[in-house]
Amino acid sequence: KGCKLVGCGSAVPTLQISNDDLSKMVDTSDEWISVRTGIRRRRVISGRDNLTTLAVEAARKALEMANVDPDDIDLILMCTSTPEDLFGSAPQIQKQLGCTTNPLSYDITAACSGFVLGLISAACHIRGGGFNNVLVIGADALSRYVDWTDRGTCILFGDAAGAVLVQACNSEEDGLFGFDLHSDGNGQRHLNAVVKENESNSALDSNGSVFGFPPKQSSYSCIQMNGKEVFRFAVRCVPQSIEYALEKAGLPASSIDWLLLHQANQRIIDAVATRLELPAERVISNLANYGNTSAASIPLALDEAVRSGKVKAGQTIATAGFGAGLTWGSAIVRW
Ligand code: ACO
Repeated sequence: KGCKLVGCGSAVPTLQISNDDLSKMVDTSDEWISVRTGIRRRRVISGRDNLTTLAVEAARKALEMANVDPDDIDLILMCTSTPEDLFGSAPQIQKQLGCTTNPLSYDITAACSGFVLGLISAACHIRGGGFNNVLVIGADALSRYVDWTDRGTCILFGDAAGAVLVQACNSEEDGLFGFDLHSDGNGQRHLNAVVKENESNSALDSNGSVFGFPPKQSSYSCIQMNGKEVFRFAVRCVPQSIEYALEKAGLPASSIDWLLLHQANQRIIDAVATRLELPAERVISNLANYGNTSAASIPLALDEAVRSGKVKAGQTIATAGFGAGLTWGSAIVRW
């Protein structure tokens, strides 16, 4: 059994924050940010926006493009590291899409690699599990976990949602040619947002809790990052991963029509393209407008490229995600 991409959609919050806006909050400048990262502005959740509604909007657009009814969805994979419910946000998306058939829906947590992992998981569910229409959503609101006084991280991130519908097809039409996925927990120290116990639980403390029981209520700390190490990891592992995926697909790098990487930093994108000997005209980039939107960045950039007519039916895309975990992976797909 094969699988193919049949629709895409995206949604971003209304509030836009420019580099100049940020330079009023922390000691930075538009020049520093754009030269070091390529980012000029980003969208941030505020007011009535929330991640679930953005994800639903992106999903609706993907279904519309694919001409698939919500009741024909078998499975929803919500790739996010910032769910609005600790127990998972996918069932809320299923509800808000109005699926009356109760399709399975669950979250996948793999930071900026989440969407690529979701795409491969969708293919595995289709090939091995008898699923027919799998909705893969990448959505994140890292702005909620950014320390807005830390100029090393707050300039990088933005919020967004993107979605792709993956559909079962016969093997001749198969649109997933090869993939490669990895993780390395040793690198967690370079990029994380770990759980922390809140300071006080005084009523219980004064009652004499024993052996640290009951545990204190917890929340998550802000994103901690060693930018240089993450940068080095990305330019080392991403080209290698794409080369492995190409090898599995039996395709040369010259067969790639579009390179579509997780949108973290223009310098990372350029370095990977150079290593694969792909000219700038074959590289998709929209991070100037949105910053690093984590699991959303690939489907958001894909959706813009498809709707603007840049990416055409039948073209081959090499896509790769990388980020916290550390996690990284790539896929060679046909649009
Ligand atoms: N404005 C002005 N100066 C700054 C800023 C800023 N926003 N941030 C740091 N600086 C300063 C530093 O303090 C340092 O000053 P010093 O030389 O006086 O000490 C100088 O600029 C250089 O800082 P570096 O951190 O060495 O700058 P670098 O060139 O490495 O760029 C950056 C930093 C943009 C973060 C880069 O390392 C990067 O993009 N790394 C990859 C990060 C990434 O992609 N992370 C997301 C992964 S995806 C996920 O899973 C969430």
